[in-house]
Amino acid sequence: MTSQLEKALDYSLEIIGRNMRELDYFPERLENGAWLTVQKDRMPSHWVDGFWTGQLWLAYAHTRDEKFETAARRWTGELSHLKETTLTHDLGFIFYLSNVLGYRITEDDELLADALHAAETFTRRYNPRGEYMQAWGRIDGPPFERGRINVDLMMNMPFFYWATKQSGDRNYALIASRHSRTSRHTLVRPDGSVSQCADFDPESGAFLRQSTHQGLSHDSTWSRGLAWGLYGFAEAYRWTGDLVFLHTARRIAEYAIANAPADKVPFWDYNSLDIPNTYRDTSAAAVIATGLLELADGETDDTLAQRWREEAGEIALSLWQTYSTRDTDIPAILVQGSRSVPHDLKNHPLVYGDYYFVETLIRLLRPDLTETIFGDR
Ligand code: GLY
Repeated sequence: MTSQLEKALDYSLEIIGRNMRELDYFPERLENGAWLTVQKDRMPSHWVDGFWTGQLWLAYAHTRDEKFETAARRWTGELSHLKETTLTHDLGFIFYLSNVLGYRITEDDELLADALHAAETFTRRYNPRGEYMQAWGRIDGPPFERGRINVDLMMNMPFFYWATKQSGDRNYALIASRHSRTSRHTLVRPDGSVSQCADFDPESGAFLRQSTHQGLSHDSTWSRGLAWGLYGFAEAYRWTGDLVFLHTARRIAEYAIANAPADKVPFWDYNSLDIPNTYRDTSAAAVIATGLLELADGETDDTLAQRWREEAGEIALSLWQTYSTRDTDIPAILVQGSRSVPHDLKNHPLVYGDYYFVETLIRLLRPDLTETIFGDR
């Protein structure tokens, strides 16, 4: 398996190098052989920007080739203007995979200021009555916008934990832990399946119902949402040592494994009535793989840790053997991602699928780097 995964990583570096030469703005998804780039003036589109800087930083960490560092710094610098926006719930994704990752790899203090500024801005999406971070919409928007969370937000909580570690200000970690507990109560079901969203009364903070935006239905499990939850709770455990988060991540992992198709790459929603004649989501598979490795790194049970690692390796191998672009001219790494099937966006490469595939490969092949980049909690 290792030699196959090494080939996958070498191939991924070639694709990153090619995109580095050809891209003129942040990539989002690929259609008809070319990357569609982010709409500059549409703020929520920018949630994907860190997945490109993240690929460049990981390429640099692995190769120590200066061309990747130069590019990573340039593209990271382009994100500076986002540090003041309250219009996205994904400042964590953006700044963690650019400035924080870059700082961990280079130890360059100059990367810190924008990240800490963004963390301060990000606190403005916190609702203390419901103890949650608001998903989507304006912070002064209508009640349905101010009263909604999604499981995607769990992936932004490490940014807050990091900000507390870096600055000493405990407020960030407090918000992250409160939001994580609220997410656990309202999004994760007893069988380990996960709702994408939950709605609240933003004035009283009362939980109202589960709902979805990209899944099949309010009571289904959108596969990338499950993946965000698995990785997010595994990280919350490693940052806090709170066993509740470990048990939550384990429960989600068990669901993902029990409900995976034979080749380990989930369909876009675990409850789709059209399985197996519907779309896969390779980005969900890649996030599940790296989430399982994060879970394994924090595991207190050696047998389970071994199980999570084996499963992650098998997912990575399946992605490489069946869902990669090798032997094509497509400038992405993975095919068959699904941005959002209900919005008719499916069956395409996605920049986050590529990022998390590379992250998975680094974690599997470079334990030394994994400790530097992902181990410092
Ligand atoms: N966070 C948005 C998505 O996963 O599509």
